[in-house]
Amino acid sequence: SDEYSSFLCYCEWKADYRYVLDNVADPMHGAFLHKMSHSMSEGETQAKFVTTDTDHGFIFEKEGQRGVNFDWSEFADTNLMWQRLEIPYPKTGGPGGNFHIIGMYVPLNPQLAGVFHWRCRPLTGWQEDTWRFLYKNRLEARHWHVLEQD
Ligand SMILES: [Fe+2]
Repeated sequence: SDEYSSFLCYCEWKADYRYVLDNVADPMHGAFLHKMSHSMSEGETQAKFVTTDTDHGFIFEKEGQRGVNFDWSEFADTNLMWQRLEIPYPKTGGPGGNFHIIGMYVPLNPQLAGVFHWRCRPLTGWQEDTWRFLYKNRLEARHWHVLEQD
């Protein structure tokens, strides 16, 4: 969509690709593993989870908490398995909406996975320019640090 700006992040995990799916399908790990990060220090560390079916998969989410931390994750199979989630940005992330991640994972061999993450944010105009500058200048390194924790 033209309403989003995005960067493609590619890396390889020395693991079965299903472990990546498992990681991204687990919103709760944000409040523990990434608690010291720039974007996942807020919110409850306990939650009741609910699933909601979609046309192509399901949403797995914390009941009663949205827009605070990594609070939900969507899985879909549209002849390509993908996952989607949103994480709110702190004020230091500049203007714009939540940080969105759309992930696709492929087995390169049984012990190596190709990991594609589209990192997106809804903003346009000068806000988009500001985010793209901040991302390259500061935020990308923080996101890589979070990914290394995974
Ligand atoms: Fe993570």
